Amino acid sequence: MKRKLINECALRFPAISRNESLSRSAAAAFVLQLDPTVEETAAVKTAVSEAVTNAIVHGYRDKKGTVEMIMRLYEGNHLQIIIKDKGCGIPDVKAAMEPEFSTAPPEEERSGLGFTVMESFMDKVRVRSVEGKGTCVTLEKTLSGK
Ligand SMILES: Nc1ncnc2c1ncn2[C@@H]1O[C@H](COP(=O)(O)OP(=O)(O)O)[C@@H](O)[C@H]1O
Ligand SMILES: [Mg+2]
Repeated sequence: MKRKLINECALRFPAISRNESLSRSAAAAFVLQLDPTVEETAAVKTAVSEAVTNAIVHGYRDKKGTVEMIMRLYEGNHLQIIIKDKGCGIPDVKAAMEPEFSTAPPEEERSGLGFTVMESFMDKVRVRSVEGKGTCVTLEKTLSGK
């Protein structure tokens, strides 16, 4: 069944770490229209932050680039947030999504739990990626709503 689109907001920002907090706040501001619980807001912010951080630190590494964030609200309080980068891509998405899998150097002390966190806080996480072209993460969650 196709759901009716109620509201939509797109953001584009440079892949620099100071924009992690911007993306969290933007997501919180977008879900506010649903009068969410504190837990729901925290869940969405955390998942978005993991996806955006990945785009910045893994997708582009030390290169310049742009992250696109599209937030959509469908009828039935169904939230969809898409985080896209045009970075290096993921050669094996299934392996990358396994808990504790990380390609980051040890000194960065990354947990490898970013995708696990996204999956635990959202209803659905889809990842499309092409090596050398980029990655698109789709996060979905139905909120309790007003
Ligand atoms: N946007 C992305 N672009 C390229 N590689 C990515 C991206 N997102 C995730 N990855 C790959 O998936 C791995 C697992 O991601 P994650 O679960 O967040 O763990 P961590 O970020 O701690 O390494 C990363 O180490 C990286 O290899
Ligand atoms: Mg991560």
